[in-house]
Amino acid sequence: MQITRRQALVSAGAFAAAPTLSVDGQTQPVPSDAIHAEPVSLGDFEQLAKPKMQAMAWEFLSAGAGDEITVRWNKEAYQRIRLKPQVLVDVSKVDTNVTLFGQEHAFPILLAPVAAQKLVHPEGELGTVRGAETAHAAMVLSSYSSTNLEDVAAAAKTPLWLQFYAQTDHGSTRELVQRAEATGYRALCMTVDMPVSGARTREARAKVEFPTLPLGSLNALGSKLDAAVSWKDVEWLLSFSRIPLLLKGVLNPDDADRAVKEGVGGIIVSNHGGRNFDTVPATIDALPLVAEKVAGRVPVLVDGGIRRGTDALKALALGAAAVLIGRPYLHGLAVSGEAGVTKVLNILQHEFQVAMALTGRTNLPSIDRSVIWS
Ligand code: FNR
Repeated sequence: MQITRRQALVSAGAFAAAPTLSVDGQTQPVPSDAIHAEPVSLGDFEQLAKPKMQAMAWEFLSAGAGDEITVRWNKEAYQRIRLKPQVLVDVSKVDTNVTLFGQEHAFPILLAPVAAQKLVHPEGELGTVRGAETAHAAMVLSSYSSTNLEDVAAAAKTPLWLQFYAQTDHGSTRELVQRAEATGYRALCMTVDMPVSGARTREARAKVEFPTLPLGSLNALGSKLDAAVSWKDVEWLLSFSRIPLLLKGVLNPDDADRAVKEGVGGIIVSNHGGRNFDTVPATIDALPLVAEKVAGRVPVLVDGGIRRGTDALKALALGAAAVLIGRPYLHGLAVSGEAGVTKVLNILQHEFQVAMALTGRTNLPSIDRSVIWS
C-alpha cells in the first residue's frame, strides 16, 4: 500500500494545525465542535461517542477494575516509549501484511472481543463485522455477544476468531467450539484472566448488571464462569479443537512458557483492558518479557491502551506479531455504526503505516527494537 503525500501531511498534522475557515472573505477560527465533527483520531471518536450512548452503556464500555490504575497505565506506558526516526530510506512502498495461522492480514491490527455490542449501537456485532471487512481487518467475536456466531459469520467474509471463557458446563463449551469450527471461524481465544469477576467498582456504582444485558442466542452465559479452570481445561480443549487455540489474558512469562509447552497456537498478552484486576502492569510493559520467554515458538499478540499507530509500531518492536483494539472500535460503532468501525480502523492503519515510514521500515519483519529510542 502506498502513502500519498496528502495522507502523510494529514497524519503529520499539517492540515490540522491551522483550524480556520473563510467566511465572506474573512478568515475566522473554526468553532471547536466543528473540529471534532469530522473525527480524525481515535481520541476524537471517544469524545463523540459519549453523548451518543446511554449513560449505563458508556459506563460499561469505559469502566476498569478497582481505581482504574491499570486502565491508565495501559495508555501511559505507550506514551513513555520514544521512537527513533530514520531518514533517507525509500518508503514509497510500505508493506503492512502479516500472516497469522496461515491467514494473510492486510495490517497487524485486529478487533478484540467485546461483549454485548448492541448496547452501544443497534447494529451491534453485525455493524462491527461489516465495518471490519471494509477495512480488511479480522474480528474476534466475544462469546458474550448480542448476535449469534452464525449470523456474524454470514454477514461478512472477514476472518473471524471466537473468544470464550471456561464455563462450568463443559458440554456447552465443546458445542460452542464445534459451532465455530463448522461456521468457518479460524481460531479460538480462551480468555484466562477472568476465572472470577474482579472488583468492578465503577460498574457497581453504575449498576451495570451483566446478566440482564441484551444477549443473543449465542448466550454462553447459560452456565457460570468456571473458577476451577486449570491447565487441564487447556489440555481438554486441545484434544478436540481443530483450529488454533490462543490463550488471551497472559501477563506472566512463566504462564506463557507453560502454555506453549501445552501446545497452544498463540498468546494474547492482555489485562482485559484493565477491567478485571487493577494494578497489574500495562500490557506493553509485560510484552517484552513474555515475548522473550516464548522466543518465537508461537505468535504473541497484545491488546490494551492502543490508541495510535505509533502504539502498534512500539508493540511490534517489542515482540508482538499483531495488536488488537477494544474500546476504540466501539466508539466508532457508537458514533456511526459500521462506517465508524471502518473509520477507526482506517485511521489507525494509516497512522501505523506512516509510523513505519518515519522509522524507515518498509515491512513488518524489519520492525525490531532498534525503532525504540533507548
Ligand atoms: C472487553 N473485553 C473482553 N475480553 C474478552 O475476552 N471477552 C469479552 O467478552 C470482553 N468483553 C469486553 C467488554 C468491554 C466493554 C470491554 C471494553 C472489553 C476485553 C477486550 O477484549 C480487550 O482485552 C480490551 O478491551 C483491550 O483494551 P482497550 O483496547 O479497550 O484499551
